[in-house]
Amino acid sequence: MRALGPIAAILFFFPVAALAETFEYDEYLGEEINRTCAGCHGPNGQGGGGGGYPRLAGMSAKYISGQLRKFKSRERENIPMLPFSNDRELPEEDLVQIAEFLSRIRLQTFLPVQNPNNLMDGYERLKQAKQVLKIPREPGDTEAGRDLYREDCALCHGKTGYGKKKAPLLAGQYIVYLRVQIQRFLAGERTHEDPDELFRERSPEDWQNLWAYVSILDD
Ligand code: HEC
Ligand code: HEC
Repeated sequence: MRALGPIAAILFFFPVAALAETFEYDEYLGEEINRTCAGCHGPNGQGGGGGGYPRLAGMSAKYISGQLRKFKSRERENIPMLPFSNDRELPEEDLVQIAEFLSRIRLQTFLPVQNPNNLMDGYERLKQAKQVLKIPREPGDTEAGRDLYREDCALCHGKTGYGKKKAPLLAGQYIVYLRVQIQRFLAGERTHEDPDELFRERSPEDWQNLWAYVSILDD
């Protein structure tokens, strides 16, 4: 950057800074845009389709918006989302709103016990149930998986698995979805740091143990 000189540096950083400053979160707009997403990702961004549609709730806004931009530029191919991730359907102003909206959703891992003196009606209870996502436990040696995770993944995906900076949460995500993404990284359809070292050189047993551990991170 120093080689560019101060003026080039200002020009280079200005657009990003300007966008961050003018962005004003509008929850109602977020909710409205989310109706489009809900058909696949669920009304609370809890995902579904047995993991064909990933959980989005509670991911960082930065990660969500980053992936949406990659879908738009087709740097990351996502055919089911093509009709929803273009400039007409999802302009940049909407993109930042929906990313913020989804990042703020806090899912539960169990349905709260009802207060026997103040029972909820069926509709309220159903609403509550839609905010619950508990990843089913995968078979495997969770202790061996924990060692692998801590050694090779925790640095970026966080010790608790809920993500850090640009690296998304793995905890609370569908294992089916995560496995597919590893295949995409290995096939060069998505980019990830060091795919050969991190992903290719691992036995099926190591993977099974790793996913077993990741699947209990949300317990
Ligand atoms: C027709 C179904 C469908 C709709 C509607 C849809 N998505 Fe998706 N979305 C998918 C699928 C399928 C994937 C996973 C693609 C893959 O396997 O790589 C995905 C992936 C994503 C991801 C990447 C998640 C990750 O962990 O990397 C984000 C972010 C996302 N969708 C946001 C949205 C938003 C925001 C909307 C609404 C504007 C939306 N999607 C609407 C089907 C849909
Ligand atoms: C050097 C940092 C780093 C390390 C180490 C790392 N990751 Fe990642 N990972 C990332 C980043 C950054 C992304 C987001 C990539 C993108 O923008 O598409 C990611 C994305 C992923 C995804 C896609 C998740 C989704 O929601 O689509 C999976 C799965 C994943 N990593 C698994 C792992 C596993 C398993 C390990 C350990 C064996 C690991 N990663 C180690 C940084 C890292």
